Amino acid sequence: MIEPLRDFAGKVAVITGGGTGMGRELAKQLTAEGCSVALCDVSMANMEETKRQCEAAGLPQGTRIVCHVADVSDEAQLQAFQRAVADGLKTEKVHLLFNNAGIGGGGGFVRGTRAEWERTFNVCWYGVYYSCRVFLPMLLKAERAHVTNTSSVNGFWASIGPNEAHTAYPAAKFAVKGFTEALLTDFRLNAPHITASVVMPGHVGTAIMLNTHTEMHTIRNAVTAGGVALDEDRRQRIEKVGRAFEERAPTSAAEAATIILDGVRANRWRILVGEDAQIIDKAVRAEPERVYDADWRNPMGLSLEKPAR
Ligand SMILES: NC(=O)c1ccc[n+]([C@@H]2O[C@H](COP(=O)([O-])OP(=O)(O)OC[C@H]3O[C@@H](n4cnc5c(N)ncnc54)[C@H](O)[C@@H]3O)[C@@H](O)[C@H]2O)c1
Repeated sequence: MIEPLRDFAGKVAVITGGGTGMGRELAKQLTAEGCSVALCDVSMANMEETKRQCEAAGLPQGTRIVCHVADVSDEAQLQAFQRAVADGLKTEKVHLLFNNAGIGGGGGFVRGTRAEWERTFNVCWYGVYYSCRVFLPMLLKAERAHVTNTSSVNGFWASIGPNEAHTAYPAAKFAVKGFTEALLTDFRLNAPHITASVVMPGHVGTAIMLNTHTEMHTIRNAVTAGGVALDEDRRQRIEKVGRAFEERAPTSAAEAATIILDGVRANRWRILVGEDAQIIDKAVRAEPERVYDADWRNPMGLSLEKPAR
């Protein structure tokens, strides 16, 4: 049995989606322990805020932070990120890879917009897959490494409730879970110094709903001639729902990051985040044939990552 990677000091971590939410909190907790981090995100301003918060807490000597704009659904952009990590942190090794970037949305397969569906799938699935491909050589060079791929409770339960078509996000999150589980054996056979975890959060207090809305609005504008107007009323409604999603979550982003890092330190391959995730996991296992019935009430009455349209 391989020793877990318990001590993050002096290590190099890559975090995708480090601009807000769980990615930001992972960066704060890792740098506080003296782990250098390289962040990518679509927003430089948000990454700079993450960096500012890390530095405000006081960085242990030698701890460095690199920020790089990259869209994880584009392999070429991730390759450029990989070069920025190697140059910026002067390293050929990555010890910790957190494939965390994600958006909700995507919606229905039957009536939804194909461009939105594929955007969600491509970010949530290809973002993880390409990042693993691109950083594998640097993980192989490290003496000990760990890959942490973020799925969701929607990685084992493909629903946000009986009245909402929600297909792209679960398709991607199931793929992330299956890929990570399969990697466990691949790594054990072919790169035994690398271990992996799949993270399955329940409802965590982040701006994911607002970030997703911005993303989907951009896509709708791109596919609709003349753009899509967003009136002030609607904008305020979306803002309200998005803030409520963040504020009413049973688990904060900081708590989620601590659960994830504790899971890595214990080398747990499955990391459920939040009591709600634990309860849904048990409920889905208890009655797998029932969980998509219209009258099946999930035990938390949860509505996760419902896209704010
Ligand atoms: N918040 C929840 O309730 C919840 C539940 C289950 C799973 N998750 C998953 O957790 C992960 C983190 O989400 P979060 O809740 O912290 O949300 P968040 O929106 O706060 O953070 C996600 C970050 O990823 C970035 N991002 C989005 N698309 C990107 C792209 N194409 N390329 C690079 N960066 C991109 C965003 O800008 C943002 O900074 C996601 O994979 C999400 O699907 C979240």
